[in-house]
Amino acid sequence: QDIVLVGIPMEEGSGRRGCCMGPDAYRTAGLEQELEALGHTVRDLGNLRKEQVAPLSHANGAIKSLDAMAGWTRAINKCAANLARDPVFPIFMGGDHALAAGSVSGLAEGAAEAGRPLFVLWLDAHADFNTLASTQSGNLHGTPLAFLCGLGGFETYLGRPLRHPLVPENVEILGVRSIDAPERELLLRHGVGVSDMRRIDEEGIAAPLRQFLDRVKRHNGLLHVSLDVDFLDPGIAPAVGTTVPGGTTFREAHLVMEMLHDSGLVTSLDLVELNPFLDDRGRTARLMVDLVASLFGRRVFDRPTRSF
Ligand code: ARG
Ligand code: MN
Ligand code: MN
Ligand code: MN
Repeated sequence: QDIVLVGIPMEEGSGRRGCCMGPDAYRTAGLEQELEALGHTVRDLGNLRKEQVAPLSHANGAIKSLDAMAGWTRAINKCAANLARDPVFPIFMGGDHALAAGSVSGLAEGAAEAGRPLFVLWLDAHADFNTLASTQSGNLHGTPLAFLCGLGGFETYLGRPLRHPLVPENVEILGVRSIDAPERELLLRHGVGVSDMRRIDEEGIAAPLRQFLDRVKRHNGLLHVSLDVDFLDPGIAPAVGTTVPGGTTFREAHLVMEMLHDSGLVTSLDLVELNPFLDDRGRTARLMVDLVASLFGRRVFDRPTRSF
């Protein structure tokens, strides 16, 4: 595949410093080289910059960095919409999860132009389904999925209406184990797909993923994967500001990536919430790179296909 890396040193959505170093941590951990070793061509576009937006305010006084959020969303949206028109696989190296408001909204424009429905697999301890009115923390990385599903009150992000909201049934949140009360209400009302840790414990992680992939395939969809570091258990991935105990194991996470690769359905990827300032000798960055390698075809054992 032709892979394009875009660095997005956004950290204003997370309410603490450090995610701005994420893109360089992926570079240092050898993301490009690992992908090339698997036979892909890789182009690193460098880091994006946010647009300058005049100061914005909102009735919810808890909200932090709304103007930075708007500046980033607009810049990332344009970049993603352009990339979606090329036959390339974009990887958005974050940066906090708020960047998905820009990446996915841009990709949705490309999908609509291609006449294909866009599906989103949200791998996360959280649902990121707060609205500007409901967020209590005021950290806007808790809001992108609600914005992308077309919920109201988000006009400041793009400074114009969202052209192609996601169909909530075409979104699957996998691995979730922390949902705010207003988020729970909204997720139910809009019919978003949610596979929480309870379900994964009972059925294994393969079952809900397989069901979702079957749906994507039936609808001839494009599939965007948004991978939040806190999807992983903090014991194996400490470099994130919002750790939640009871996350996916090394083996579950790799299985997800291998199944995604085998499905052949994935067309774009976000890597978000890596905070290298909190890492332990680069182990989280390296684990994320290993997961991406599995998504792009690395496997433990390949039985050669025999012609006799
Ligand atoms: N639901 C919480 C909030 O709104 C946590 C969000 C965490 N999001 C993330 N991308 N890590 O503040
Ligand atoms: Mn190269
Ligand atoms: Mn998230
Ligand atoms: Mn999260």
